[in-house]
Amino acid sequence: MKVMVVGSGGREHTLAWKISQSPLVSDIIFVPGNGGMQQMGECIKADGEDASAVADIAAGRGVDLTVVGPEAPLVAGLVDEFEKRKLRVFGPSAAAARLEGSKHYAKSLMEKYGVPTGRARAFNSFEEAKAYVETLSPPVVVKADGLAAGKGVIIARTSEDAVGALSDCLVESVFGESGSTVLVEEFLEGPEVSILTLTDGAACAHMVPSQDHKRALDGDEGPNTGGMGAYSPVPLLDAATEESIHADVMEATVSAMASEGVPYRGVLYGGLMLTSDGVKTLEFNVRFGDPETQVVLPRLTGDLVPALLATVDGTVADLAMEWTPEYCVCVVVSSGGYPGKYQTGIPIKGLKAASSDSHVEVFHAGTRLQDGEVVTAGGRVLNVVALGGDFTEARGLAYEAVKAISFEGMHYRTDIGHRAIQWQEEHGG
Ligand code: AMP
Ligand code: GLY
Repeated sequence: MKVMVVGSGGREHTLAWKISQSPLVSDIIFVPGNGGMQQMGECIKADGEDASAVADIAAGRGVDLTVVGPEAPLVAGLVDEFEKRKLRVFGPSAAAARLEGSKHYAKSLMEKYGVPTGRARAFNSFEEAKAYVETLSPPVVVKADGLAAGKGVIIARTSEDAVGALSDCLVESVFGESGSTVLVEEFLEGPEVSILTLTDGAACAHMVPSQDHKRALDGDEGPNTGGMGAYSPVPLLDAATEESIHADVMEATVSAMASEGVPYRGVLYGGLMLTSDGVKTLEFNVRFGDPETQVVLPRLTGDLVPALLATVDGTVADLAMEWTPEYCVCVVVSSGGYPGKYQTGIPIKGLKAASSDSHVEVFHAGTRLQDGEVVTAGGRVLNVVALGGDFTEARGLAYEAVKAISFEGMHYRTDIGHRAIQWQEEHGG
């Protein structure tokens, strides 16, 4: 079969790598792809949010399955357009994608169905939000309702900062329409984990847990980014807590969506915080995580394609996914300056040497081919991923590979997996 992957990041390159290993797949194409995907198949320029243009490509090229990476095309209704045209597509409808597209919608659903989450109130009026915030003791969390490219969550350490964030959203409209509703949420503390669950709207198949590193600098300092690295498994997540996340968060939400008449199909991403008061759901995403995918899929021992098809065909109840017990670590290599301003078009050296070990893969994110040479084309540039028998081995292999790579201004964190290693030192195992 012919598969089309929509997106241009490390998540999509990883999906493509895994999909292309399937004996079911003869051909793979990309919209729009990146420098890594350009080396795997045809890359077609199109705007992923233009559902009818992407559907035209799928129909015109005889694509049998389209896999959508990022959230924006899903929220914009790509899946609805494909279904209308009887084209097979992996992902939720626009109505179901509101779980990520509107934090207010997600919060209301969780409250209605008793899914554990932080207390929050929604506001459209700056004056009302300000009056409410001034009754709270900081820190408080201000969240823009809609999609904001990962920038819509502000942790306000003082009331003044909280009022500033409210003003940015509700008065200055820095997030446009996405910030015209805000949530003011209680501040929660604890380690975070991500769970990816495949579902056909009824049954669920949970993937192995992972943890990403959102801050730019070592020691979880510096600004928030799209993710600077990840690892799986997560030793600090015990089996009972994982079970409870599966049942009380992921399955409860899939079942809630079905009860609402908005069945959820595709992959559901739960962002969870393990607080002293139990598990709390921070957010849902309606797609695979980036860079979580880069450490979860290398641990899947079987074929990904039947698993993706099961969500479309309604056969997830029969799905059995198997995982290697090995550890997987991903180090993100970014452009100097990211998540602020950075240059692009810089040649990257050492890619072949970096992936010479069979336990290492280098997935491309912000890259492109220019005259046959791989150059930088984004903030997060590469994902260096290694599998190992234990954390120390996986991490060592990943960092050894990172050291083979060089480009001007290149930045990476040197402490990916630090929480896991610290936890293992304290608890053994
Ligand atoms: P979200 O997009 O809602 O997951 O938020 C992005 C990041 O902000 C999360 O991964 C957390 O690190 C942080 N965050 C979100 N909500 C809260 C909260 N209520 N308390 C503390 N940190 C939060
Ligand atoms: N790693 C966070 C996300 O994919 O949203």
